[in-house]
Amino acid sequence: MRQVHCNGQQLQVFDEGHGPVLLLVHGFPLDHTMWKPQLEELVKDARVIAPDLRGFGGSLINDDTVLMEQYADDLAALLDQLDINQPVIFCGLSMGGYIAWQFWKRYPARLEKLIVCDTRVVNDTPEMARGRQLMAERAMREGTEFIAETMLPKLLAPDTLKKCPELVDDLRKLVVSASPMSVAAAQRGMSQRKDVRGWLPNINVPTLVVCGRYDVVSPSEEMHEIAAGLPDAVFVELADAGHMAPLENPEEFNRVLRKFCQWC
Ligand code: MLT
Repeated sequence: MRQVHCNGQQLQVFDEGHGPVLLLVHGFPLDHTMWKPQLEELVKDARVIAPDLRGFGGSLINDDTVLMEQYADDLAALLDQLDINQPVIFCGLSMGGYIAWQFWKRYPARLEKLIVCDTRVVNDTPEMARGRQLMAERAMREGTEFIAETMLPKLLAPDTLKKCPELVDDLRKLVVSASPMSVAAAQRGMSQRKDVRGWLPNINVPTLVVCGRYDVVSPSEEMHEIAAGLPDAVFVELADAGHMAPLENPEEFNRVLRKFCQWC
């Protein structure tokens, strides 16, 4: 792991392997370790860059709110610091997907391919935005323990919850380890997201849209519609997975990713 100063931030980043650059951007409220099965396997095919976003994992934070645009700017600055000038394969899950849309808008020339996992293009309803404000306030008051209880049943497929106690436990620990400030800043940032459906027809980048069959946060039908709205997209639904598809069904996820990247 390396510490990198970029865009006025200090970010911790996993950077291993050689060849095409695969940038893995984690979801909320996680860090680069959610990509463990990808880090282990895909370093054989690519230079894998997996940062901890501002405030998460080993990265610092000093903000009340972080917009998806700001995370995207951090990532572009990170690539600069790592001397990566070639276009990258940007793979983002959920909040990482919200950031992917902003990265495309701001830095289209830096993208070779896009992989969006279990994410959305619509913005929050007023109730959802209110829920995020409440979670931000509660995390700052009480810490992040309560988030695991509310989020885990939504993040994982029912079978994962029943049959994979170790995975559930690791994910619980990861959620609870998130700092209250990073949780609050990301929730406030996500609540200010714009609806980006109108961007889809202009995203002229080969895109893989992946979704777990049992995802209740970004349902498969909604992700199928995202793929249908993109000019050059492949849609894949993964069996035996919920919102955390790359973690719940890593063999299949890695196979699909490798095929899309033509690494097999
Ligand atoms: C995530 O997995 O990043 C979150 O579920 C995104 C969200 O809260 O909208």
